[in-house]
Amino acid sequence: MPHHRTADSLIPTGSGVIDAEHGAILDLLSAMNAGGPLGLAELTALRHEVAEHFATEAAEMAVLAADRRDRHEQAHRNYLAIIDALLDAATRGHPPTGDDANRLMLWFIVHSNTADTELVEAARRAGDEPPMISMDDWLDSLDEADQDALRS
Ligand SMILES: [Fe+2]
Ligand SMILES: [Fe+2]
Repeated sequence: MPHHRTADSLIPTGSGVIDAEHGAILDLLSAMNAGGPLGLAELTALRHEVAEHFATEAAEMAVLAADRRDRHEQAHRNYLAIIDALLDAATRGHPPTGDDANRLMLWFIVHSNTADTELVEAARRAGDEPPMISMDDWLDSLDEADQDALRS
């Protein structure tokens, strides 16, 4: 089987807040995948943590180009829909399988290592941009005679 580095473990994105939330979610997913209890309570806890985390990321999305933002938000909606479907099945007496838990973890790690890393990187670049200095604003602050001389 080929070795997929990004599917093995969480790579820090560089955002302290996002990485802490990723760690908390990964703890829940790891417990599910380590033979721990896997039912309504665990899925409900996961749903809660994930929804809060996606809200954290949504607040950062403005730095992304529209198509990247749409794709990222769609990915979040898809993941919540997967959890909701598992929750729905669990309430009807069909708890998630080990495969379900494995897929939940795989999705989360791959998404965190790709889309979320891109998001944090884009936010960092946006923060690095020098402030826009308008020459007109600067000229407006001068005496009229100087303004005329510089604008001519
Ligand atoms: Fe994330
Ligand atoms: Fe994300």
